Amino acid sequence: MIIRKAEIKDTEALWLIQTQAIRCIGTSHYSPEQIEAWAGGLTPEESHSRAIEGFSKSIEHGTVFVAEDFDSTVVGFSSLHAQSGEVGAVYVLPTYARRGIGRQLFEALEEEAHRLGVHTLHVKASLNAVAFYDRVGFKFEQEAIHRFRTGIEMPCAIMKKDLQAT
Ligand SMILES: CC(C)(COP(=O)(O)OP(=O)(O)OC[C@H]1O[C@@H](n2cnc3c(N)ncnc32)[C@H](O)[C@@H]1OP(=O)(O)O)[C@@H](O)C(=O)NCCC(=O)NCCS
Repeated sequence: MIIRKAEIKDTEALWLIQTQAIRCIGTSHYSPEQIEAWAGGLTPEESHSRAIEGFSKSIEHGTVFVAEDFDSTVVGFSSLHAQSGEVGAVYVLPTYARRGIGRQLFEALEEEAHRLGVHTLHVKASLNAVAFYDRVGFKFEQEAIHRFRTGIEMPCAIMKKDLQAT
């Protein structure tokens, strides 16, 4: 497995990984309505174009990493908003889950954060991902509610990691 910075050509792969991971792994903690609000949007087309636009901007800022299998298939990604220290995403294809890829993707973000002088990372973690963030060193801060543009709400957890302590 290779971890590398994402390139614009990866945006469609990122979209596929995100929607597949949510629709498979996210179902452990959320209802079908919440899953669709998270994976989709008002309409699939609108949601796809907004996601591609968002991925492209983050990739241009150089803070998105992908995991690439030996056959060049992109199987996971992570993204960081360097100014705020917010971990935007860690997503791994369901068929590749629990093999240490999420951890490697997070460690690439963490190294980048150190390099950029970010002292604290925070994430609004989906409930299914709390155990993962806990294992990579985040501490639970508080419960929160994420509200999608469709009005559907999803409980999540605010978690933080102090990088100066590592
Ligand atoms: C969360 C996610 C990225 C984890 O990726 P992954 O590649 O399966 O994680 P890893 O195999 O690297 O696991 C890292 C550690 O977390 C633990 N972990 C991962 N998922 C876990 C789970 N569901 N329950 C308990 N522990 C878990 C692993 O046991 C491992 O611990 P260890 O290193 O001490 O052995 C993946 O499950 C995913 O894509 N989920 C859906 C999308 C999502 O919710 N993303 C977060 C949005 S905030």
